[in-house]
Amino acid sequence: MNPLYYCFAMESSTDDLNRIISNQKNLLETIPAMVLLVKNGSTIEYMNPSARNFLGDLCKLPENAPHQQKKTCFKFLELVTKTIQDKQIGDTLETTFFESHLEYTLAPFEGYKGDALYWLFMRDLTDNKNQLAELSLFHNSIETILSHKINELKESQIMRRKLTKELNSLKEHLQEQPVEGKMVGSSRALRELRDMVFQVAKSDATILITGESGTGKELVANLIRESSNRNNKPFLKINCNTISDSLLESDLFGHEKGSFTGADGKRIGKFEVVDGGTIFLDEIGDISPRMQAALLRVLQDGELIRVGGNMPIKIDVRVIAATNRNLAMMVQDGSFRLDLFYRLNIINISIPPLRERKEDLIDLTAHFIRRYRQAFKKEINFLPQSILDRLMEHDWPGNIRELENVIQRAVLMAKNNLITENELFFDIQPGDKNQTPYDNYLQRLDGRTLKDMVANIEKDIIVYSLEKNRGNVAETVQQLDIGKTAFYDKMKRYQISPKDHK
Ligand SMILES: Nc1ncnc2c1ncn2[C@@H]1O[C@H](COP(=O)(O)OP(=O)(O)OP(=O)(O)O)[C@@H](O)[C@H]1O
Ligand SMILES: [Mg+2]
Repeated sequence: MNPLYYCFAMESSTDDLNRIISNQKNLLETIPAMVLLVKNGSTIEYMNPSARNFLGDLCKLPENAPHQQKKTCFKFLELVTKTIQDKQIGDTLETTFFESHLEYTLAPFEGYKGDALYWLFMRDLTDNKNQLAELSLFHNSIETILSHKINELKESQIMRRKLTKELNSLKEHLQEQPVEGKMVGSSRALRELRDMVFQVAKSDATILITGESGTGKELVANLIRESSNRNNKPFLKINCNTISDSLLESDLFGHEKGSFTGADGKRIGKFEVVDGGTIFLDEIGDISPRMQAALLRVLQDGELIRVGGNMPIKIDVRVIAATNRNLAMMVQDGSFRLDLFYRLNIINISIPPLRERKEDLIDLTAHFIRRYRQAFKKEINFLPQSILDRLMEHDWPGNIRELENVIQRAVLMAKNNLITENELFFDIQPGDKNQTPYDNYLQRLDGRTLKDMVANIEKDIIVYSLEKNRGNVAETVQQLDIGKTAFYDKMKRYQISPKDHK
């Protein structure tokens, strides 16, 4: 029997009944929701097309129906029974059916035979659920992206704080007044050294200054002389290893007429010229045994004999000597006279290498930046902490001269008045076979086009040469062997102005 008869069997006229049945049938047959009529919790009496499409036909299944069909049917009947037991009739509930999510409502159906009948209305929510799941996934990934962005922002804030701190590095030092010609540094070693210089300067004692290359031996010699009583008397500096031995002897002690070929007349030596003043003998470890003997006479007896002569001449000269060689070792191996060593070494000022007093590095760096920003007319007012850290890490085999060179180059090459890693090149030490002079330079050019690199090098050469010639274009042009017009063209292209390099 058509299940709708359960509903309408009691209606008055057959026509009315048929009309109502037809309307209700149309409704049930066309609505997208699934509608089932379940009897006694044991059989499915009716399924509308939506329900049949979704579940297959489960109405009044015979005993021999396929297993899968019976299983599906059983599951629904079970659902109905449970909903009745739980007194959830009329509630909107949800269940899963295999892979699908279903929303369902159980409603009582008044049958005329008194059978226990129920409408089961169902809607497939699987698509909705999937969309919700997708939305929540999307939501989660938005949250992840946002939390990344927030972290990035936090990091950039930390970075900004760090950069601000970096900006302040050296700022105060750089504002201090320059102290040209003074020994910069406040390490204990340097304070003691400075004290010693002023203590010994006033006496006339011979002083031997020792220390590695570039530690400041000449600077100390200058200070001693400046602070001595002879500061307004002549001061002569002789680099003993740049003049040949015989010339050095005649240069220092003079010669008599005809004492050697070419000695046309008598010549007064530098010791006599400087009489009453100070003489600085640099690289004293390089003088010959003959010179050592002559020098010993000066230091021991205060007199000299001109080359080719035999008359001792009294002189009053204060000697300051310097060397980066180990004179004590040279005495041991017989290349330096012991008696001369004693005479020279009456007062020894030994300058420690920079790597043993890195506390001085900040003062020295600030000092050289001040010096070279003025020379190169740059507005460098600070040095990033990272650069300072890099300077601190370095071993400084070339000592303060190397530091001065590094800063000089960096200031010269700094773009936008800022020193970065790109402008930091350490000196190549003699004997360092692993490095060529180009290594540092080439690092800076990494990742650029050939044209760009050549232009870069060309610009550096022009700036360097102008700097050397104090902005004099005529001399620079001649030195570089280039036409004046071409040179002006290049200066225009690289925005170089000769007056910036005077
Ligand atoms: N304490 C210092 N403060 C400021 N400048 C310094 C200091 N020490 C060295 N310098 C500078 O470093 C450079 C090298 O110093 P100097 O020529 O006196 O070294 P040196 O020991 O004589 O080197 P070398 O053994 O190679 O002759 C100079 O320009 C000097 O002015
Ligand atoms: Mg020197």
